[in-house]
Amino acid sequence: MGLLRILGALLVGLGAWYFYSQDTFSEDMVRGKRVLVTGSSTGIGEQIAYDFARMGAHVVVTARREERLREVVQKCLDLGASSAQYVVADMSNLTSAQELVEETKTLLGGLDHLVLNHVGGAVSFGPFKGDMKAMMNSLTVNFLSYIELTISALEMLQESHGTIIVISSVAGRMPSPFSVWYSASKFALEGFYSSLRTELRLRKVDLPITVAVLGYIDTDSAVQIVGDRITMMASPKDECARAIVKGGVLRHREVFYPYWSTKIPLLFRDWVPEYFDHMIGRSYMVDKIL
Ligand SMILES: NC(=O)c1ccc[n+]([C@@H]2O[C@H](COP(=O)([O-])OP(=O)(O)OC[C@H]3O[C@@H](n4cnc5c(N)ncnc54)[C@H](OP(=O)(O)O)[C@@H]3O)[C@@H](O)[C@H]2O)c1
Ligand SMILES: *[C@@H]1O[C@H](CO)[C@@H](O)[C@H](O)[C@H]1NC(C)=O
Repeated sequence: MGLLRILGALLVGLGAWYFYSQDTFSEDMVRGKRVLVTGSSTGIGEQIAYDFARMGAHVVVTARREERLREVVQKCLDLGASSAQYVVADMSNLTSAQELVEETKTLLGGLDHLVLNHVGGAVSFGPFKGDMKAMMNSLTVNFLSYIELTISALEMLQESHGTIIVISSVAGRMPSPFSVWYSASKFALEGFYSSLRTELRLRKVDLPITVAVLGYIDTDSAVQIVGDRITMMASPKDECARAIVKGGVLRHREVFYPYWSTKIPLLFRDWVPEYFDHMIGRSYMVDKIL
């Protein structure tokens, strides 16, 4: 009986802590903030831009397709953005990445949230064939450009006490067969940003880094690439974007979305690696992939 009471009290305490620590977010935290979202012509990045727009932020969207960006800017304005503008840039060119930040500075006069989200570079899903060019391309678009953007924006972010929000994936934390080049670039991001986060803290630099660890999300490209070849269910991109924005604005170190298919499986990774590997294998319809 005594033990049950203690357990009960503990649970109530934990529940209350969870409730209050989660609920400190308010839209006022976003109004008037200056935000750059990369890869925002479609998918999760587009939804992130809309979420910031809805709460009255100044939004700059960027990707390669100008037509799409124009539509996204219009919708951001309709949703209530304080301002919305776009910059066309190709992140396979690191000079363009640098210039993108300079243009953002000209457009916004500073930056409060740098959202690194784009993904590209020969996106494919299938057996690793030793294509070195695809590997270099993926590392440039999905890793090095993130670093270049971060370096270029560092001073602005420090001035504004801003944050960096990095979109990663379970592919950055667990083995991801049939997308090894993608997984490698996400692991690289995780190494860089978790180390930088800790270093900045030790150097007493106030620049929090939020890493979003995502499961399978229902963007057009993801569904098209893996849809009928894995056994997982896709989660909604708008809810995903909301979780990312909330976690980033609240300066959380990580966001797991959806929680049950990211955080929970990852708990098993280091404890029971063989079983973990076996479970991963069961998500792939190998005969449909090969
Ligand atoms: N969807 C999922 O299941 C899932 C799961 C885990 C993690 N994630 C992560 O979530 C993020 C967004 O994914 P998503 O599914 O929303 O992707 P998406 O729909 O394919 O969108 C990718 C975005 O990146 C842009 N982009 C691609 N190549 C580019 C380049 N060379 N230069 C500049 N921009 C480029 C695209 O625009 P343009 O083509 O117009 O350039 C587009 O706006 C990525 O970091 C991804 O790794 C997604
Ligand atoms: C990269 O971008 C820069 C500046 O926009 C441009 O001068 C250069 O030609 C580009 N490089 C390639 C390989 O397209």
